Amino acid sequence: MTRLWHWTQVLYLLSCLLSVSWATKGNILSFENTAIVRTVELGGSLVAVTTTYAIQAVTGDTSEYIVALSEAEHGVTSWIEATLKGSVDPLQLKPLGYKHDYAAHLYSITLPQVPVKGETTSLVLETVQTKATYPWPPSSPQGGEQLLKYESDLLVISPYVTSVQRTKVRGPASIRSFTTPEGLEAFTDEPTAVQAGSVVTYGPYKNIPASANPFFAEESQKRILIHYEFNEGVLTVVKLQRAAEISHWGSNLNIENQILLRNTGPTLKGHFSRLDHQFQGHYHSAAAQSIRSVPMLLPAGINTPYYYDLIGNVSTSRFRPSRSGKSRTLQFSYLDLRPRYPLLGGWNYSFTLGWDAPLSDSAKWDAKTGRYIIGVPYWTPITGSYVEEAEVKIVLPEGATDVEVFPPFNPLTVNRTVHTSYLDTTGRPAIILTNTRITDRHTGVIYVTYKVPFTAHLKKPIAVAAATFSVFVLALAARRVDPRIHK
Ligand SMILES: *[C@@H]1O[C@H](CO)[C@@H](O)[C@H](O)[C@H]1NC(C)=O
Ligand SMILES: *[C@@H]1O[C@H](CO)[C@@H](O)[C@H](O)[C@H]1NC(C)=O
Ligand SMILES: *[C@@H]1O[C@H](CO)[C@@H](O)[C@H](O)[C@H]1NC(C)=O
Repeated sequence: MTRLWHWTQVLYLLSCLLSVSWATKGNILSFENTAIVRTVELGGSLVAVTTTYAIQAVTGDTSEYIVALSEAEHGVTSWIEATLKGSVDPLQLKPLGYKHDYAAHLYSITLPQVPVKGETTSLVLETVQTKATYPWPPSSPQGGEQLLKYESDLLVISPYVTSVQRTKVRGPASIRSFTTPEGLEAFTDEPTAVQAGSVVTYGPYKNIPASANPFFAEESQKRILIHYEFNEGVLTVVKLQRAAEISHWGSNLNIENQILLRNTGPTLKGHFSRLDHQFQGHYHSAAAQSIRSVPMLLPAGINTPYYYDLIGNVSTSRFRPSRSGKSRTLQFSYLDLRPRYPLLGGWNYSFTLGWDAPLSDSAKWDAKTGRYIIGVPYWTPITGSYVEEAEVKIVLPEGATDVEVFPPFNPLTVNRTVHTSYLDTTGRPAIILTNTRITDRHTGVIYVTYKVPFTAHLKKPIAVAAATFSVFVLALAARRVDPRIHK
């Protein structure tokens, strides 16, 4: 390493070595990053970031590798997963929280085994960012272009030294402008940003010291800004309220979603003209700004969904069902949902979408434990969008006991309540999970297990019988009463 170390950096390094940095044996000398490559795929509501770390075990005494996200990067990161390169099985990833000494949020990744001294491994960290882009200019006339800005840290920080790193930012269409950072002579003597088509490459930057620390954040980190064109709808689900009701009697799983959508692209400047809208429908640029259809992937094996808004039934949507459990490529039913009116920049649309499915597709009874197991999808993604606030309620059959919930990722809150509806006697136990910023990668299934005692199974027929009987008695009584007016 040719460059001189700043004395504060040396002090910092010493203080790190002296303190026991994180959980176990690992410290900032355990690994070295031989190369880091980060690829940013710009989108509308979602930005996908893939960072590949080629790491070398220096001491070979720990399987714990630490990744760091600055406060700003962490703030926009909604989903995070680590794998070994070429593998799809996620590695164990534990958030360690914000650490002042590192000026970063740390995550500990556990490698499958302790690497041998000198061994190299490739780790892939995938994140999905939300709220990382914003429309610029913030408003645009009908049929105008749709431009967005994306801001990010220039350098991938790490508690370990890095030999070389680069970042590629790929735009979906043309890139209008991008930051060319300055003051990076310490790490490079080439131009620091190069554009080729819709890709901007930053780096290579070489010989970067341990960078997850307040000193580096202050002295060497830069922010970059990319201004780009985006030709699809920028759609946000502001609120999703999903209710899944299990009925053993009807052998049915009903899922109903109340959805508030918003076009979070540039807001419409001036008035909306339907005539212009119809005319512009033939051009691509107009399609970006006014959202006419919302593509959704619904579970396989469902019956035709119902869809209504404040005014009533909406019947213009296209639905392509898929039978459950057949081929792997048809895991979803496809719905092209058409809002009642085109959704222009800043406009909201609120509607209800529900469907029924055979309970046997998602529930099983385990004879050994006497428990039912049911899987409810957390949400069914709307392509390219995320959910700002999600609430999922699972309503179990009346009398269900020993309820246990296994969500696919940590919910913000889990609450239990009792849901009472028509013909219920004691009410049905319900579980409510809430989360914020659910992305297209949050597609897991919530598993719920419970028991239903035999007597509880009988409650419904008894209630139904009682209701039928009372109707019968009333009818009988009515026949005995002579409704004619006596003379
Ligand atoms: C909406 O359509 C469904 C069938 O698709 C029908 O059963 C229901 O009565 C309709 N509701 C209204 C309010 O028109
Ligand atoms: C959409 O809803 C938000 C929040 O309620 C509101 O601020 C905004 O004005 C609404 N947009 C339109 C076009 O009404
Ligand atoms: C739900 O649970 C959380 C804790 O997990 C609690 O703070 C919140 O008040 C509860 N909400 C309701 C409506 O009970």
